[in-house]
Amino acid sequence: MHRALYFLVPVLAACGSSPDPAPAAKPPTPAAPAATVAARAAPAQPAADSGINPRLLRRFKPLRSSIEREDEAPASVAQTDLGRMLFFDVRLSKARDLSCSSCHRLDHFGVDNEPTSVGAKGARGRRNSPTVFHAAGHIASFWDGRAGSVEEQAKGPILNPTEMAMTDAQTVVATLQKIPGYVTAFHAAFPDEAAPLTYDNVGRAIGAFERKLTTPSRWDKYLLGDQAALTELELKGLKLFTDLGCMTCHTGEFVGGSMFQKVGVAVPWPNQADQGRYELTKSDADRMSFKVPSLRDVAQTAPYFHDGSAKTLEEAVGLMARHQIGDELGADDVHAIVAWLGSLTGELPTKYIERPRLPE
Ligand code: HEC
Ligand code: HEC
Repeated sequence: MHRALYFLVPVLAACGSSPDPAPAAKPPTPAAPAATVAARAAPAQPAADSGINPRLLRRFKPLRSSIEREDEAPASVAQTDLGRMLFFDVRLSKARDLSCSSCHRLDHFGVDNEPTSVGAKGARGRRNSPTVFHAAGHIASFWDGRAGSVEEQAKGPILNPTEMAMTDAQTVVATLQKIPGYVTAFHAAFPDEAAPLTYDNVGRAIGAFERKLTTPSRWDKYLLGDQAALTELELKGLKLFTDLGCMTCHTGEFVGGSMFQKVGVAVPWPNQADQGRYELTKSDADRMSFKVPSLRDVAQTAPYFHDGSAKTLEEAVGLMARHQIGDELGADDVHAIVAWLGSLTGELPTKYIERPRLPE
């Protein structure tokens, strides 16, 4: 039944994720070197008990607090402050009724909890809104990866006729130019530029803000060596997740977000209306290929999938087992996996995401 997964292993290697990455800052857990001893000696190590292969576990990574760009200096507070204001400002939409936060509610883990999002004039788009938390660390933006960085992505929805529907970039810049508070804020955020109020800098500031949208969780504590951070049931779920091969696709720091994969590898996905990356590349190999979503905070971001077709996490896990692995999971196994996924729910940075006073 699990044979389908052998095909996936090379994919992982091709994505450049080295199997044994250097552990970040923390030393390896004492349990690791002592594992053989622990197996013989009486007091059972929780890690050994859980039966999880430590080499697999090392493919996951604890979360950074800030997902910085490699090619630039970390953002200044003036930049993240400006990005936050823009993120919340409905004046960036044509009818002055939508902001990024309408569909990516930060106090709701960055989603709107709708099957597909409601945009300009109340019309529904065709895709589920993914969370903006950790999006900065993904391989690319959107379900089909059509935008690269979050800085680039942010310039899309403002002009998208089914989202914020502004006419063009010049109109956005002209709108902001009439608000003195923004003129000052752009100068503070980009002090080296003579004319900093540009559409590119709108994207850069929003991106800078998004790079600090992270939610460290009990899962990170566990990865950093706190064996007691997960319950027995959660450990059972984790073991199933690794044994079944879910982590072939959902791996790394974000438990996803690092590759594109076909949805329906084992059994075709029921809804074929949206062909994913094929629509960009027109290559048959990309039919039904989507970005593997991050599973951080996934318990909070229902409904699921690009088409919003699963209402509950139980349903989503069952569908994944069927369509990606060709396995029908029993209710107990689903329950355990869902429990482990719950440990990926992190703490919201409540102060950082507070709605700011908008410039006048
Ligand atoms: C009308 C609802 C709506 C608004 C307004 C909106 N978004 Fe989105 N956002 C979505 C949907 C739906 C998607 C997925 C679209 C797709 O993949 O084709 C998305 C995708 C994203 C992603 C990619 C996440 C990922 O995992 O790939 C980011 C980042 C993002 N939006 C940020 C923003 C920002 C910043 C703004 C404001 C400038 C914004 N959004 C405005 C609905 C919205
Ligand atoms: C072959 C790669 C692959 C495997 C194996 C896989 N997934 Fe997925 N997973 C994906 C892709 C691709 C999506 C997005 C599909 C879509 O939205 O159409 C996804 C979506 C999800 C979602 C929904 C997330 C969201 O925010 O909408 C959950 C939950 C999930 N997977 C859990 C699992 C579990 C649990 C397993 C193991 C039983 C698993 N996946 C195995 C590729 C995979």
